[in-house]
Formats: sequence, C-alpha cells, structure tokens
Amino acid sequence: MKLLVTGGAGFIGSTYVRQVLDNHPEDEIVNLDALTYAGNPANVRGLEGDPRHRLVRGDIADAELVDELVQSVDAVVNFAAETHVDRSLLDPGSFLRANVQGVYVLLDAVRRHGKRLLQVSTDEVYGDITPGKHSRETDPVETRSPYSAAKAGGELFCKSFFVSFGTDVLITRGSNTIGPRQYPEKMIPLFITNALRDQPLPVYGDGMQIRDWLYSEDHAAAIDLVLRKGRSGEIYNVGAGNEYPNIEVVRTLLAHLGKPADLIAYVPDRPGHDRRYAMNTDKIRDELGWEPTRTFGMTLHETIDWYVGNQEWWAAIRDGSSDFNDYYQKQYGWRLEAAGQSAG
Ligand code: TYD
Repeated sequence: MKLLVTGGAGFIGSTYVRQVLDNHPEDEIVNLDALTYAGNPANVRGLEGDPRHRLVRGDIADAELVDELVQSVDAVVNFAAETHVDRSLLDPGSFLRANVQGVYVLLDAVRRHGKRLLQVSTDEVYGDITPGKHSRETDPVETRSPYSAAKAGGELFCKSFFVSFGTDVLITRGSNTIGPRQYPEKMIPLFITNALRDQPLPVYGDGMQIRDWLYSEDHAAAIDLVLRKGRSGEIYNVGAGNEYPNIEVVRTLLAHLGKPADLIAYVPDRPGHDRRYAMNTDKIRDELGWEPTRTFGMTLHETIDWYVGNQEWWAAIRDGSSDFNDYYQKQYGWRLEAAGQSAG
C-alpha cells in the first residue's frame, strides 16, 4: 500500500509510521506534517535513508498540496490534529482549523480521487462517563471541551461524506495513549520530566479523575488493522481497559522513579474537567481480533524508562523552545502559586 500519513512526525503518528515500515516491507509512506510545536523531525530520525518514507512539511488545510499528495496514494491516515485539552481552553480557534477544517480538506480530496481515509479520533467525544458505564460506538457524542468538540466535528464530517457521497471513511476512537516521543505537555510525560528535575507535579483538582491508559504501539497496531480490515463507514473504539484514577498513576510513576510523593502539588482544576472516560472495546476485539500486548504496568514502566533514557529528546523541547516555556508559565504559573509552589 501507498499511504499518506498526516501528522506522522507527531507522537502516535511517528509510532505508526515506524510500525508500518517495519511490518509491511512493500508499503510506502508520504508523511505530511506541519511541524508545529508537537510535530518534531527528531520523531522520525533514522528514517532519512529509507526510500519508502518521505517527509513533507505542510498543512492538512492546504487544499492544493493535499490534492496533489492524495492522488499518489491508496489511502490516508489522519493523525494531524491539535490534541491538548488545556491548549484548547487557551486557544479554541486553532482546534477548529486543524481538527475540523483540516479534516474537511482531506475528505474532499479523498472523495475526489476515490481513496480511503482513516480518521484518528478520541474517546473524549463521548464526554464525561458515569461510573460503571462503558461507551459504545453507537452512543451519542456529548463533547464538553473545545478539543473534543472539534474532534467530534471532524468525525461528523467524515460520517456525512460516507452517507452523502459514499466516501470510504473509517474512524477510530482511542483512549489516553502513552509511550515514547509524546510531547511533554500531557500528564504522563510532563510528570515524568518534572519528577526527573525534582519539580512539582501539578495534579488538577482532587486527582480522582479516571482515564483508560493505552500503549502507543498497541494504539498504532489497532489503527493499522482498522485501515486494512475495517468496514467502511464504521467507528472502532480502541482501549486496553486500564482504568485508574490519576493520583494512583502519579504515585506509581513516582515510586518507579524513586522520587518522593511530596512532589505532588494539588492545583486548581481544569475547567470542565471530565471525571471519567471508559469504553467498551468488544467491536475491534471481536471483529478484527485486536488486543493490547501490554499490561498497564508494562505500559507505564516502558514509557517512564524511555524518558529516563532519552533526556536529550525532551530537554531540547523543555530548554530549547520558547513554546514550551510560554505555555508552561501560562498554564501552571498561577496554579502552582495557588498551591504554594513555584513554576520555576
Ligand atoms: P491529559 O494527559 O491532558 O489527557 P486528557 O485530558 O486528554 O485525558 O490529562 C490526563 C489526566 O490528567 C486528565 O484527567 C487531566 C489530568 N492532568 C493533571 O492532573 N495535571 C496536568 O498537569 C495535566 C496535563 C493533566
């Protein structure tokens, strides 16, 4: 297969690109990435010499560029997105552009050229899930943050193109994903790198929010399976069933690093913070035979160990980019001060 992978220099995208090149020797990848703050050429380092991989710097909302690239491939896998809830509260408009307008441009090209599009989405479109319940693909979307609203908007456009024009689209809804090369703004990589520098870990609210943790390699494998074997027009939930309250994850993380629990700082909550995400994943398991390859312990430990072993990767982001520090001060400066701590 010849694939256009968008956002393939990001976290899950680069994991997917590497996995496809390893598992499918015949496949070729055009990797379209805007290389904004989270897309990072270092994430695809080592692939420069591989003739099956070509990195193109560009925006998925650039209709002319997208049209040209889509013509030359069999299918598109869209990882390109604004992904961080806290940033969506600071700048909702950029989420609308990337996650709705960008998806529309991809869809339009895929429709014109008769190709397949897999849209990578998120369990956050289901909204806040009451204890005991597990979201199914047929449940309504109940988005609450600008991030999840924009992801749902992108999904709904995909669905509408399938129904209205017969465009070949598939959607995956993944749970919270961790692993190597995740930009250190998300909870796990932020907390690992803060802990390694003996800086406070800003836990929002009471820390009892629940997320279902998934390893990036398992998430990428699920997406690839859906791309090759999934039924057109369908949505597939992807999750490993690792439901834990944040504070428990944070304590395990500190213990694995041998760092003290008094690094934990309870800070003012994220507005509209969803208490729980949890999905039923029978569909992808029963229909396509997907299952995670790692326990929660392995998922967390392998992620932590990667950051311990790759300090130069994240130090370049934390020390070398004004983006990270501007964002960190804006997001955490006043929160840590309210908790009697300093943002450094
Ligand atoms: P995050 O990694 O931002 O993913 P999402 O919001 O998409 O689930 O956050 C995971 C959980 O961790 C979520 O409940 C919010 C919480 N969190 C904190 O408590 N402190 C933080 O600094 C961050 C970034 C997240």
